[in-house]
Order: sequence, then structure tokens, then C-alpha cells
Amino acid sequence: MPTLAKREHLKNLPFLFKKLISKNSVKSNFLCSIDLIAVTTGPGLEPCLWTGIKFAEELYHKIKKNNPKSKIIGVNHLKGHLYSFLLSKEILKYKKLKDIFPAVALIVSGGHTILLLMKSLTEYKKLGETKDDAAGESFDKVARMLNLPYPGGPELEKVAAKGNEKAVNFPRPMINQKNYDFSFSGLKTAVFYHLRDNQKNITAGQEFNISKLDSAINKADIAASFQQAVIDVLTAKTIKAAKEFKVKTILVSGGVAANKKLRLTLKKEAQKNNCAFIAPPLKFNMDNAVMIALAAYIANFKKEKIKISAKGDFPL
Ligand code: KG4
Ligand code: ZN
Repeated sequence: MPTLAKREHLKNLPFLFKKLISKNSVKSNFLCSIDLIAVTTGPGLEPCLWTGIKFAEELYHKIKKNNPKSKIIGVNHLKGHLYSFLLSKEILKYKKLKDIFPAVALIVSGGHTILLLMKSLTEYKKLGETKDDAAGESFDKVARMLNLPYPGGPELEKVAAKGNEKAVNFPRPMINQKNYDFSFSGLKTAVFYHLRDNQKNITAGQEFNISKLDSAINKADIAASFQQAVIDVLTAKTIKAAKEFKVKTILVSGGVAANKKLRLTLKKEAQKNNCAFIAPPLKFNMDNAVMIALAAYIANFKKEKIKISAKGDFPL
């Protein structure tokens, strides 16, 4: 609901900003010391993006009065995710950033599932992406079927930890296809049919109601089996790309990259294939402002010019 989402942004942005500058750790001359303001211009819901842009522009005009050299820069949200691996301590092990590349980068969020081949920090090409639901979206939708709160990914992960991932053999869509694309909508439907067909307290002719799940249904087993299916597909495609392009490193980012089992599986498989594995620290996987500042820093360093206007479908 874009209008409601915009209203929340209008309410929360000034509140968050006030909270930030009132922190003890923020010095009184903080505002004057800002020389670069980063604002997400897409992809996303345009009314929300515009709210952010207007807020950032107002701030920029205030700051410019005291600091005429200050600048404002637009950032692609996905670049924020892509570069968030730089926030990991693993990076400190490298003498030169270029030793990380070539790399395969998997971005898994609520809106995107993208596999990239990176030659350097700024040279990359898309190998594949989801043809329907994003990985995070499928976690959210399955979590809703299991009556878990939003965002469903972290909740489903908690429930899955108590279940058996071999309990239900859900499909692994596109796992054997030669391309690097993904599809998660069929998997979500398979979970729905499994729930419908395993209701014990349903009488003939009665309609299946997802909000009244049978208590005999083992939510933990279903969550664990679903999560495993997603992990298997993401890992298989990432490792296949890593092998084909003989990369040195596997990178993963986006909200779903906070999933501990996914991180662990990717790490193990990376090691088996003599690849390094780098993921952002847990708190920087889901949307955050630090990754946007980081992407802005890189864009500014590379003198990239991005028009400051909302682009709902801004590609990577
Ligand atoms: O990157 P993000 O914060 O927002 C987008 O750019 O979409 O990703 C949010 C998505 C949600 O779908 C959420 O359920 C999922 O990431 N997510 C997880 C976990 N934590 C967040 N999915 C699986 N396991 C998690 N631990
Ligand atoms: Zn995101």
C-alpha cells in the first residue's frame, strides 16, 4: 500500500533523524561536518523514494549554508546491498581489494534475487535473477501461511531450527537448469498444497482456511523443509557459477543473507571449492543506512553521476 508506506516514511524520517543527532556520540558540529549526503533513488516504491529524496534535499540545503562544499548523491539500493560485504572484518585480511576478484555475488532480499559475476568493485554483469518471487518474498509468504509475523524470514528461521529439513521433500525449482535464473513461486505453492492436503480436521466440502491451521501440522518440519529447499537452490546455482567462472570469492548480501543456515552452507561449499566466502556482519544484511553511505562513498570516489529522482525499477 504505497500511500500508507509513504505516510510512515513522512512520520519516521524526521523522528529517526532527531534521534540520531541527539545521540551523545554525535558531536554538536555534526551537521556542519557532513560533506556528502546519500539518498536512495531506487529501486523501490516511488512515493517512499520521493519522501526520502525531499528529506535529503532539505537537509542538504541547510548544510550547504555552513559547508558550501557539501554534496548530495543518489544511490541505487541494490548497490548498497552489493557493497555491504565491505563492512565485514574478513576484508581486513586482504592487502589489496582487487585480490577478492573475480567474485560471484548473490543478492537475496525481499524484492530481488540476483546472481552477479564481478571483475572488480564496479565492473560486473548479471548472470541470472528470479523469474517470479524473490527468495525473501517466498520466506515472507510461507511464514504467513504458518501464521508467523512479518517479516517472515527471521521468524521462519527460528521455527525451522526446531524442525527436520528432510520431513517434506519440497521441489527445488530450476535447480538442474543450465541457466543462473531462479523461481520461488512454485515452491511457495507446493507448501500451500502440502498444508491444504494434510489438514486432518477438515471435512468433505469444507474449504481450506489457511488461518485455521490444523494443530497436527508440524510447523517446524514444514519451515525447515521449505528453508532447505531455498538454500539448496541458492547454493547450487552460486557454486555452479563459482566453478564455471573460476572465481576467487563468493559474496552474499541482502536480508535473506542474515539466514545462518544459508551462510553456513554457502561458506562450507565455498571452502570445498577453494573459494573465500564473505558476507556482511549480521546487522548489515537487512536494509540499513550504512550500506547506502558506503555505496555513495564508492560512487563519489568514482565520480559517478546519478540523477536525484525516484526510479521505481532502477536496475543494478
Ligand atoms: O534486504 P531487505 O531488508 O529488504 C529488501 O531490500 O527487500 O530484505 C528483507 C527480506 C524479507 O523478505 C525478510 O523476510 C528476509 O529478507 N529475511 C530473511 C531473514 N532475515 C530477513 N529471510 C530468511 N532468513 C532470515 N534470517
Ligand atoms: Zn534491501
